[in-house]
Amino acid sequence: MLLPNVRAIVTGAAGGLGSTFCRRLLENGASVLAVDVNSARLEQLKEGLKSSKFHVQTADISKEDSVRSIFEAAEKSMAGSNVLVNNAGILRDKALVKRDKSSGKGMHGMSKEEWDAVISINLTAPFLCAREFASRMIGSGQEGVIVNISSSARNGYVFQSNYSAAKAGLAADTVVWAKELAKHNIRVGAIAPGVVHTQILDSVPKNLLDELIAKVPLGRLGQEDEVWQGLKFILECNYFTGRVVEIDGGITL
Ligand SMILES: NC(=O)c1ccc[n+]([C@@H]2O[C@H](COP(=O)([O-])OP(=O)(O)OC[C@H]3O[C@@H](n4cnc5c(N)ncnc54)[C@H](O)[C@@H]3O)[C@@H](O)[C@H]2O)c1
Repeated sequence: MLLPNVRAIVTGAAGGLGSTFCRRLLENGASVLAVDVNSARLEQLKEGLKSSKFHVQTADISKEDSVRSIFEAAEKSMAGSNVLVNNAGILRDKALVKRDKSSGKGMHGMSKEEWDAVISINLTAPFLCAREFASRMIGSGQEGVIVNISSSARNGYVFQSNYSAAKAGLAADTVVWAKELAKHNIRVGAIAPGVVHTQILDSVPKNLLDELIAKVPLGRLGQEDEVWQGLKFILECNYFTGRVVEIDGGITL
């Protein structure tokens, strides 16, 4: 797909990676509908970008009705979408279990609420968005692309039962959707970033972050633009589908 032909819905667009994706897509001539639950940060982004091809929609993508409203907004603002970037994500890290200091007994660590929140936003929401996107693409005669932002955590990171499961599930669905949707002229790809310097890391304790960086062969955090390069490749390469591009400084080697 040629970037000037792209009409993209980007979820989690007010965050670190999302805002970089929006900026770079616009610079390359694309139209963008930026979606985020954080309306104040979306408005800030809009003011900064100052483009008639940039549209915003405040929505909680874990809710089915909100997802429908996003696609209706895309119809109105840019005559529909042909690219979906499933980027929104949250962390709620916790060990599965812990030992109570006074009794020495085992107890629950991660709560069901922490599990549910991460599965809902990082896995169920991409499913809802992909389903809505694909159903609207069918019969349009256009090519479409879905890009899922997974994570190197899909291989299993400590304290991330919820996040690792969601990101592994998203990588698996990248394969499922690529197989199911190819006949409808929709390609599906994923990116698994390693540790990238954005606000999502604010909740990660510094010692854990340092431990992670120490495991990266390239010895540093990734940059947002390095993940954008992966998105650009997936959009532009018409023979790419069903695969995960790992942009992780080698952390999973
Ligand atoms: N930064 C990293 O190190 C890293 C590594 C691997 C994968 N990722 C993934 O990349 C994606 C983007 O991460 P980021 O680092 O830019 O994070 P970020 O925290 O900067 O941005 C995430 C955005 O998602 C939005 N969001 C959260 N819940 C939402 C909801 N219910 N509806 C709509 N929007 C919602 C937030 O408001 C935020 O703006 C996430 O899926 C994350 O899991 C990030």
